Amino acid sequence: MAKRPFIIDCDTGTDDAIAIMAAFGCREITVRAVTSVNGNVKEEYTSRNNLNIVHYLGLETEVMRGAQIPFYPRGNYYDTTHGATGLGNVVLPDAPKEKFSKEIASEAIWRIANEEDGELELLVIGPMTNIAIAISNHPGLVGKIKHIWAMAGSVVGGNCSTTAEFNIWADPVSAKLVFAAGIPITMIGLDVTEKAVLNRADAEEIRSFGNRAGILTANILDYMLNRYKVGGEDAMMHDALALAAAVKPECLVCRDYFVDVECGGQYTAGHTMVDVRGRLGKQPNASVALELDLAAFKSWLKECIRQCGTV
Ligand code: BDR
Ligand code: CA
Repeated sequence: MAKRPFIIDCDTGTDDAIAIMAAFGCREITVRAVTSVNGNVKEEYTSRNNLNIVHYLGLETEVMRGAQIPFYPRGNYYDTTHGATGLGNVVLPDAPKEKFSKEIASEAIWRIANEEDGELELLVIGPMTNIAIAISNHPGLVGKIKHIWAMAGSVVGGNCSTTAEFNIWADPVSAKLVFAAGIPITMIGLDVTEKAVLNRADAEEIRSFGNRAGILTANILDYMLNRYKVGGEDAMMHDALALAAAVKPECLVCRDYFVDVECGGQYTAGHTMVDVRGRLGKQPNASVALELDLAAFKSWLKECIRQCGTV
């Protein structure tokens, strides 16, 4: 069977890195490009991390740089969740900068969408700035993307404010545009991703695979598990779960709802409004993940990391 073409748009990022490695272990898909965006850390770091991961693991794909600031004025908001430069305390050899594709992310998305003729799917696991720019510059993109799988938002609660999840909080203006664009979209939010947690035994099992991806994943997990010990976020596989939604749908229960994004409000900027009771009477525009089969997800993820670069 033909492999499904994907672009991974990401702000790597500890859990983004694990999602990238998992994607290269999925038999069902081919990763046409990894596009970088400002998010967890500045774009100069997310793009460098993407290039270094691809180079270090010998993966076949293009890496593009992308948007450096969001459309929403967030200022210097960066914290240490993902370490100073995005991969926790993991340091990879620097790949030559000439290996970056010369194209900017938004143009690459448009070009590859045309090449794939309606089959391209996007795994969007950072703020949606690149996608919004691509749609804004090329409105015809809307009919050419088969599906967006987005780690985005939440039905209830937030991790950046009381109501907002980070990827949406960082650039709600872009997210609003993307949700309203008319591209089929699945929202994999905190309601499920905060339950997609790996533990020490998982890390050691993954390390024991002995391949570069397994050891790199385990080293990143070491950082995340230590972060949790000192009061930070647990080893949540937010971004890999968005990939699972695309290729291992039995991991999740999803339902269709109307979703919109709040761009203002003292408490609400970045909130994903999910009309679970249909009060607005609007047609659903998104499929929203509500429940997770953790065991199925974990075993799928481990197998992908074990197979990274070999499928
Ligand atoms: C999202 O924000 C980032 O910290 C993670 O990589 C994930 O994409 C979770 O809110
Ligand atoms: Ca991310």
